Amino acid sequence: MHVSGPTSSRWTAYLGLLSALSAAFAPAVAVKEHDFKKCHQSGFCTRNRAFADHALAATSWQSPYSIAPESAEFKDGQYHAVILKTINDSGDTVRLPITVSFLESGTARVTVDEEKRQKREIELRHDSKARKERYNEAEQWVIVGGTALDTAAKVDYEDKTQLTVKYGPSSKFEATIKLSPFSIDFKRDGATQIKFNDQGLLNVEHWRPKIEKPAPAPESEKQEGESSESAESAESTESAKAEETKEEEPKGEDESTWWEETFGSNTDSKPRGPESVALDISFVGYEHVYGIPSHAGPLSLKQTRGGDGNYQEPYRLYNADVFEYILDSPMTLYGAIPFMQAHRKDSSVGVFWLNAAETWIDITKSKDSKNPLSLGTKSKTNTHTHWISESGLLDVFVFLGPTPKDLTAKYGELTGTTAMPEEFALGYHQCRWNYVSDEDVKDVDRKMDKFGMPYDVIWLDIEYTDEKKYFTWDKHMFADPIGMGKQLDSHGRKLVTIIDPHIKNTDNYPVVAELKSKDLAVKNKEGNIFEGWCWPGSSHWVDAFGPAAREWWASLFKYDRFKGTMENTWIWNDMNEPSVFNGPETTMPKDNLHHGNWEHRDVHNLNGMTFQNATYHALQTRKPGELRRPFVLTRAFFAGSQRVGAMWTGDNQAAWDHLQASIPMVLSQGISGFPFAGADVGGFFGNPGKDLLTRWYQAGAFYPFFRGHAHIDARRREPYLAGEPYTTIIAAALRLRYSLLPSWYTAFRHAHIDGTPIIKPMFYTHPADEAGFALDDQFFVGTTGLLAKPVTEEGKESVDVWIPDDETYYDYFTYQVVPTAKGKSVTLRAPLEKIPLLMRGGHIFARRDTPRRSSALMKWDPYTLVVVLGKNGAAKAEGDLYADDGESYEFEKGEYVHRRFEFDGARGVLESSDFEGRDCATKKCAWMDQMREVTIDTVVIVGAPAKWAGKKTVHVENQGRNWDARIEYTPAAEGRAAFAVVRKMGARVGTDWTVDFS
Ligand code: NOJ
Repeated sequence: MHVSGPTSSRWTAYLGLLSALSAAFAPAVAVKEHDFKKCHQSGFCTRNRAFADHALAATSWQSPYSIAPESAEFKDGQYHAVILKTINDSGDTVRLPITVSFLESGTARVTVDEEKRQKREIELRHDSKARKERYNEAEQWVIVGGTALDTAAKVDYEDKTQLTVKYGPSSKFEATIKLSPFSIDFKRDGATQIKFNDQGLLNVEHWRPKIEKPAPAPESEKQEGESSESAESAESTESAKAEETKEEEPKGEDESTWWEETFGSNTDSKPRGPESVALDISFVGYEHVYGIPSHAGPLSLKQTRGGDGNYQEPYRLYNADVFEYILDSPMTLYGAIPFMQAHRKDSSVGVFWLNAAETWIDITKSKDSKNPLSLGTKSKTNTHTHWISESGLLDVFVFLGPTPKDLTAKYGELTGTTAMPEEFALGYHQCRWNYVSDEDVKDVDRKMDKFGMPYDVIWLDIEYTDEKKYFTWDKHMFADPIGMGKQLDSHGRKLVTIIDPHIKNTDNYPVVAELKSKDLAVKNKEGNIFEGWCWPGSSHWVDAFGPAAREWWASLFKYDRFKGTMENTWIWNDMNEPSVFNGPETTMPKDNLHHGNWEHRDVHNLNGMTFQNATYHALQTRKPGELRRPFVLTRAFFAGSQRVGAMWTGDNQAAWDHLQASIPMVLSQGISGFPFAGADVGGFFGNPGKDLLTRWYQAGAFYPFFRGHAHIDARRREPYLAGEPYTTIIAAALRLRYSLLPSWYTAFRHAHIDGTPIIKPMFYTHPADEAGFALDDQFFVGTTGLLAKPVTEEGKESVDVWIPDDETYYDYFTYQVVPTAKGKSVTLRAPLEKIPLLMRGGHIFARRDTPRRSSALMKWDPYTLVVVLGKNGAAKAEGDLYADDGESYEFEKGEYVHRRFEFDGARGVLESSDFEGRDCATKKCAWMDQMREVTIDTVVIVGAPAKWAGKKTVHVENQGRNWDARIEYTPAAEGRAAFAVVRKMGARVGTDWTVDFS
């Protein structure tokens, strides 16, 4: 929830109304950390941590899980067996079917179910209508490819106790499955990388009936001479059976939260009893683990079991509307991606825990001098992780790398990659809660132009609606939305309006009437429509898990239904965790029911994605024949959300530490498959000082998603209001973003093709340089070789940039050669007007240098290529540029330009060829026609060789035509590199060409 400090009058009135209506809950005007669960307040987390404590403290702990040897079979790339869980001293067992799938991609998958629940042989309490099975549909939402089985995988060794399967590319990977106790070792090139159940923390809470304990008879009621024993012997058969069952439980198990659990004023009825799944996953010889966003903490994850500088709490994944979130914390935030990478020098491995229920992850590290990988002297660090989910299947994918890029690519193959956005989406977005009227919007639009500030999108938050009824307009304040849309469109600009999943429960609102009559909303545990509170007051929630609901949702976005919207209107989905103001932890009760009668508990972390997905598809079908790539921003997300839009990091604050925290958060999104990410520029809550606002724009210009946003109570802060010198400095940051748009778009192309992050941390680009593994405040942009380190500290006029290699680095703006040394930091001056931005030798990147008002107006502008050479100009440099029509799906049919640029210092030749080796010279490539007249106008060569001094022309060859272009050479001076500029180079961007500098 989103209100702090002085509240707006509307909100104050709303609060008054709420408290008058219901004293039962108080809208959390000051939700704090304690409004969200800690592990000890979550039954299954507590139980599994206690289980771990017991196992790890015991001198001879043996995991009670073993594979029944006769059940095992390996066939066509899959190992099937039954794990037996021993549940009491008499050796009774519970059957847990396991499948280990070896995939063609080299990824392995381990899935464990529970036979009794699978066969629905369980009883639900409270006449619940919930499904009896463990939730097994997560993959239908998440997995889109890469599941073909590796039929070449084969059993390499087998005896009575274990078997080893060789799999993956050139059979480099091995999985050794030990039968008793059950465990798996994953090896690459003969060395163990990842171990499952090595610590014996596997725990699948099996189904059991609830034992109603008889209330002890009061002493007064006992008949004379009757002992308590004889009273017990007279109990019903069921109770006797119950006692028997109870005996089965290992001593000391804490049953207090098996059947019911209360947090705050909410009680979860848990009709299926305890059902958590947990497993320890150890990364052998790995000191760093990354991923599992979203958390406000360092990129390299911390240990969570206490100790100096460590957390006490596990990392939590339970999408929540966390108001004023705290920094440096494992606390859950708005979205969840249960994908973790482990990294050590020259090796990356990882796991993806496919489970959408509430999940906690403990991380500890240990030193192991006996580790065979340590080759004697130096001890290695192992990282142990303990994954705990409340319900569902145990379903884990294992990636054996060895590079960070392999991991993002294999993960992308499974869960999909970033949807190729429209080009405008990479421009600057201007938002606040709220622009108050259509005139206000038009005024901001004009002022951005007046102050020379490029932008592409202006946003409308919830106040544009008629009393928070989505798909309506406040008719007084937004009398002419189409007029507003047209003014924006005249400069190629867009409008984004917010549409949330809570639907106002009121009369005379057709949307809610249809939601009810068509029975498309989320249900409560009794199976009746769920009612809760959000912005509109009493509300219902569309259940986007259901196909009929999604189809209906799509109908609401048709232009003749959502009147006032037009082709340049796109959508923001907020509050989709979902946020329910009066619900437990500000979300839905876990015993609510979704389509298919799955409990909310099972699908919670998927909820936001299903909603964004419904909106994305709705926008694709607004009008027959109009097929453009939708833009949908989401707050809640899960693995796979990257396929349907962008995310932002939620309600941050206008504070320097929040600016700082945004960088590791955005980097973490990038390596976790969802790189289209940004934080609210300026900070959502509060009023940033002008220095902070300026520095935030300079940092935001390097977020893949670049949006300024502010809370309703925050003062207006459109960037032109800042005054001088701030306005000029911010305008320069915006222009820098716009000039580099071709390179950003190219980075998105790579993310779309193979899941590569858009901004990349040091461990990703330099996986052998250990000193960079924990760095998360500097990054490279796409393939450009641009190394950015935004200033995030108050009053700072210099930054230390860590240099990962022996390349030459130049200041982006001045071409100064930065005095660097591999593995050392270099101090750069960074007064307020300066963004610390270096160019790494060996790269070529593209820009568009004509300042324009929006990206659409730059569409046919010529390009500038910047060729950044190593010290002597002898080195090679390379880079690429991707361009398409920026809005349609024609690129999927090959209608795009993707060029590879190479500069060969020895030959002195710069060359352009098709990135994929396609032949557009002879074959028709339609987009080439449109791009025909778009040229490379300017080539800048930074670090140009001295022998070019005096050179007046260079020779250009393009499609059989030859000409000379003018070159100006500027010699090196006072630390500044020599550079040369070729003007009016004139080669067509979509074609092969060479420039000869020799
Ligand atoms: C919560 C979002 O996080 C925030 O960005 C938005 O302004 C408010 N909801 C109001 O819609």
